[in-house]
Amino acid sequence: MWKSIFQVADLLLRLQTVFSLQRIPEWSDAISCFIHFQTTAMNSQQDFINQNKDRFLNELLELLRIPSVSADRAYTKDVARCADAVKDSLLKAGCDKAEIFPTEGHPIVYGEKFVSNDVPTVLVYGHYDVQPADPLELWTSGPFEPVVKDGKVYARGAADDKGQMFMHVKALEVMNATSTLACNVKFMIEGEEEVGSSNLATFLESHKELLKADIVLVSDTSMISMEHPSIETGLRGLAYMEVEVTGPNRDLHSGVYGGAVNNPCNELCRMIASLHDENGRIMVEGFYDKVVELNAEERKALNDAPFNQNEYNEELGVKEGWGEDGYTTLERTGIRPTLDVNGIWGGYTGEGAKTVLPSKAFAKISMRLVPNQVSDEISELFRKHFESLAPASIQVKVTPHHGGEPVVTPTDSIAYKAAAKALETAFGKAPIPTRGGGSIPIVALFEHVLGLKTVLMGFGLDNDNIHSPNEKYDLANYYKGIETIPYFHKYFAEMQK
Ligand code: BES
Ligand code: MN
Ligand code: MN
Repeated sequence: MWKSIFQVADLLLRLQTVFSLQRIPEWSDAISCFIHFQTTAMNSQQDFINQNKDRFLNELLELLRIPSVSADRAYTKDVARCADAVKDSLLKAGCDKAEIFPTEGHPIVYGEKFVSNDVPTVLVYGHYDVQPADPLELWTSGPFEPVVKDGKVYARGAADDKGQMFMHVKALEVMNATSTLACNVKFMIEGEEEVGSSNLATFLESHKELLKADIVLVSDTSMISMEHPSIETGLRGLAYMEVEVTGPNRDLHSGVYGGAVNNPCNELCRMIASLHDENGRIMVEGFYDKVVELNAEERKALNDAPFNQNEYNEELGVKEGWGEDGYTTLERTGIRPTLDVNGIWGGYTGEGAKTVLPSKAFAKISMRLVPNQVSDEISELFRKHFESLAPASIQVKVTPHHGGEPVVTPTDSIAYKAAAKALETAFGKAPIPTRGGGSIPIVALFEHVLGLKTVLMGFGLDNDNIHSPNEKYDLANYYKGIETIPYFHKYFAEMQK
C-alpha cells in the first residue's frame, strides 16, 4: 500500500510542476502533505540513528572485545561466545528468530525477520571471526581492547568484518523501529571466513530451503573513499600452498659440510625467485591459460577510478610500485592473478648467530586468481611446476591449503542498481564500480550452490589495516553504512515490481 501512496505522491509532484498546480491552494496542501509523508520515513530513520549513535557504537565495542580468532584453538570458547553475542544482537534488533548452528568447526549464526510473502528476501552474509592479532608488539592499544581515536575505532575485526557486519544488524533495528522494513531479511553470519569457510560450504548444501532468498548482500569489502563511494564488482580467487624443502637428514655444521651439501634455505630462495620473470610474470607453466583478458574499453573503465600512485607509495612507505609489466596498479590488484610468499622460515632465526646448514626450509605461498582460473587446477599446476624446479640434491613436498574461486558480480542487475542508488542517496554521488583484490571464497558458492547473486556493498577503506596491526574502522563509515543499508532494502523492493 505504501508503494502506491508513494507513486501517487510522485505523480502529483510531476503534475504540480507540469501544470503549476501550486497556484491552487487546496492542491498544493495535498501535494505537500504527500511529499512530507514520503520523506518522513527517511527522516525518522536518520533521527533514530542520531538518537542511538552512542549505543550503536558501544554495542560494536562490546563485540570487538571478544577475541574470536578462528585460526587459533586457544580461542575456541571466545569464538562460541561471540556467536552467542551475535545471535542475541539479532533478536534484540528485531529478528523473529535467531539460531546457532554448530558445525565441525565454529558455529554459524542464522536469524530472520519475515515481513511478507509479497516482498523480496535479502540474505545478509558476514563473518564474526577475526584474523590472529600478532605481531602484538606493533599495536598501539590492545587488539581486543577497542579504543576510539580521531573518529576511528581501533581493534582487530573493527573493519573485517565485525564493524561492517554489525551495520546490518543495526540497520535492521532502524528499519524495524521506524516500521520501514521493505524486504524480508535473513542473516547468515559465520565464524570461519578467515580460515576458508569449509563448514559453511557444507551448510549451504544442507540448508538450501532455509537460505532461499533473492539476493545475497555482503559488507566485507572496501570502497575508494567517503568522497568516492564505490562498489566492488569482483573478488579474486585463492590457491594457498605450503612447501617444504629437505636437504640432509639432519642439521649440519656449516663449516664442516657447507659447500658440499645443498642448503635447503638457499635452494628454496632460488626456487621462489624463479617463480617470477623479470617482467613480473608468473612462471608456473599453464598459469595464465584460462585468464580472461579485459578489452580496452573495460580496462579504461577500470582505470577511470580515482587513484594516485604517489599517494599510494607514500602511504605504504615504498619508493615505487611493482608488478606485472603492461598493467596499472588497479589492474594488478583487480584483474590480474598474482603469486606471493606469505611466510618463509628455516634454519636458525634466534638471537645471535649459529653456524648451521639446515635440514629443512619452508614457505607459505598464495596465488590470487581471476576469472576463469580454477583453484584446484592452479594448485596442481603449482605443485607440478615447483617439484620440477628441485635439483636431485634436495626433496620437495607441496601441500595445498584452502582455496576459493574468483567471482564477478553483474552491474546490470536490479540488486546492483538498488545498491548504486542507495549509495547515491546516502553519499550524494553515484558509486564507481571497481574490482577488489581480496577473496571471500563462499561468494562463488552462493551462486553455484544456492543459485544466488551477490552484491558487495562494502564500506571499509584500503587503509583500514585489516589483517595487520592497528586495524581500524572509521565511525563515519560505520554510521554511513547503517544509513545506506535501509535504502538498499527500499530500492531493491521497489525495483522488483
Ligand atoms: N574481507 C576480506 C576480503 C576482502 C578484503 C575483500 C578487502 C575485498 C577487500 C576477507 O575477510 C579475507 O580476508 N579473505 C581472505 C581469504 C580467506 C580464505 C582467508 C583473503 O582475502 O585473504
Ligand atoms: Mn572479511
Ligand atoms: Mn579477512
